[in-house]
Amino acid sequence: MKSILDNREALKAEVEKIAEVAGYLWQNGWAERNGGNITVNVTDLIDDDVRSLPAISEVRQIGITLPALKGCYFYCKGTGKRMRDLARRPMQNGSIIRILDDCASYAIIADEEVMPTSELPSHLAVHARLVENGSPYKATVHTHPIELVAMSHNKRFLGKDVLTDILWSMIPETKAFCPLGLGVVPYVLPGSNELAEATLRELEDYDVVLWEKHGVFAKGLDVMDAFDQIDVLSKSAKIYVNAKAMGFEPEGMSQAQMKEMTIAFNLPR
Ligand code: 13P
Ligand code: ZN
Repeated sequence: MKSILDNREALKAEVEKIAEVAGYLWQNGWAERNGGNITVNVTDLIDDDVRSLPAISEVRQIGITLPALKGCYFYCKGTGKRMRDLARRPMQNGSIIRILDDCASYAIIADEEVMPTSELPSHLAVHARLVENGSPYKATVHTHPIELVAMSHNKRFLGKDVLTDILWSMIPETKAFCPLGLGVVPYVLPGSNELAEATLRELEDYDVVLWEKHGVFAKGLDVMDAFDQIDVLSKSAKIYVNAKAMGFEPEGMSQAQMKEMTIAFNLPR
């Protein structure tokens, strides 16, 4: 079967990386059924032949207008598709879309007519802001990490940077590799424009945000970078939960030890 990836090594490598991360999400137990979604801005990997490919779907509305994305191309996980299936067959469980000239609609161009994720408004709103800011970030990942979602069920953790400070203090690397911490988006209906707007606001200050009682949403240079940031935060959450399960409140690194990390790794705060 012919694929848009044939003879396009850079695009193929990017999609293979997405498939690899989809496998990690499943293996981590973060991707029950169709849980989670990935989108990657692949515009830089698109050649003139792809630009002239006809649409294979009807025109569909995004729900918001995003002028910065005019003519951009995205790989999107398909709505209702499973990460564990995407890991093996990325072009049957996701598709490549083109944002049309009205900046409010899109069409699928390859390989199959797989409808993009229901969280498309959140993903594309974030990509649009990244393009506007000239950011090198190309990937956004949403997933359902067990311990982080569990922690979001306690209001005590949802104040500004309460979780950031707890998670950073569980193991030194978390602060080093997720240096902006974890933002919090209060519960909003999945797939809604309200969720997209709230996510966009919170991602001004963070690379990863926690969607209360739902999951996390991360942006990164590529899909692996976005995954890594979620993974280090999740590791800290697991350490916290394990300590609590052993019957004690974990001590956490001291403020002096955290400060020492900031200086040693030249971190923003
Ligand atoms: P999709 O299957 O539409 O990507 O939705 C999964 C999800 O996690 C929604 O928040
Ligand atoms: Zn979700």
